Amino acid sequence: MSLPIRIPVIYQGVGSLEQLRNFKQKRILIVTDKTIHQMVGDKLSDYFQGREVKIFDEVEPDPKNTIMIKGGDVARKFKPELIIGIGGGSAMDTAKAIYFLYGQGSLKLYDMNVMIEYNLKEKSNLVLIPTTSGTGAEHTPGLVVTNTETGQKVSLASFDLIPSAVILDPALTLNMPKKLTVATGLDALTQAIESASGKMGNDFTKALNLYAIKILFKYLPVAAEEGASDISVRGKVHNAASIAGIAFGNSGLGIAHSFGHALGGVFHVPHGISVSVMLPYVIEFNKPECEDKYVEILECLNIIGVKDPSAKLSSMVKDLLKKLNTPLSIKELGISPKDWEQNFEKLVDWTKGDILTLINPRMPSEEQVRKIFQYAYEGKTIDF
Ligand SMILES: [Fe+2]
Repeated sequence: MSLPIRIPVIYQGVGSLEQLRNFKQKRILIVTDKTIHQMVGDKLSDYFQGREVKIFDEVEPDPKNTIMIKGGDVARKFKPELIIGIGGGSAMDTAKAIYFLYGQGSLKLYDMNVMIEYNLKEKSNLVLIPTTSGTGAEHTPGLVVTNTETGQKVSLASFDLIPSAVILDPALTLNMPKKLTVATGLDALTQAIESASGKMGNDFTKALNLYAIKILFKYLPVAAEEGASDISVRGKVHNAASIAGIAFGNSGLGIAHSFGHALGGVFHVPHGISVSVMLPYVIEFNKPECEDKYVEILECLNIIGVKDPSAKLSSMVKDLLKKLNTPLSIKELGISPKDWEQNFEKLVDWTKGDILTLINPRMPSEEQVRKIFQYAYEGKTIDF
């Protein structure tokens, strides 16, 4: 039996942020970072004139449990009927954590259990508004929290975290710098390819993934260069990233993400870069289980009848990484052999322990985790 497919109400297109005027709740908590607060704070206050609005703008990149708990305490005092998370993945993940801490009462953040229903909607509604185009966090039941004591990034999930509504207004992404456009866009592509290659997909997630992959290959390089100020190009990438988010939120990811989480946690590499640098190696490693899926992906890119679909898809991803001027190996991330060696056991441990390793199409042994890391460090094609 497969899981039901969950999709929030989606408002999309230029100007869709205005839809917030139609939400009638009287007490509204906005969760964001200081940059987005400056950018849209006045606009949001204008939408909610005559109602009580509180802005919690302490979101930071790689959000820590302490900030999420602080936001939960703010919500418990303020008692919002509507919680809005606006920003990148960190803001949306923090909003989800606050929504959980406020909505369910006495549990701690790390008590969150994907098997339990919390009925969070009884206390408030959640609306998520991405201002980057990539994480897909607006659609997923999960969030990533960095533990302040260990530095480890941990994934938590509850289906109650899927919001009531998502707003996709590409106007919010026009000011994204190139580096952020590339990193978040590559996260979206990695997610779409991992979801399309995974064991838990279905016809619906496949349809979403294949379209997202096609659009991202075509428009991400344009959005990173000459099309950066073209709102229709931005809209294509913004929607494709969110479409991939619906897909992987309903089907899961794989080891490009578990390896990437470990790299990000240990070396503070931006998430999209840490997962995309692993993607070609993971495509090659998953070959024995994923050939059919790779053929489908290549077909949607109008590439038919190649002898080695895994090698072709991996090389297409590498070509895209080159075009976008991002690293093709872990060494190219600027990690010295000494730092690499010193942190190697931690990287292996964290990767083995990541829940996404368990749902990868090909389960790697500990020895294979070590080898994949070494090959990816050196930039060698996987041959095992
Ligand atoms: Fe991701």
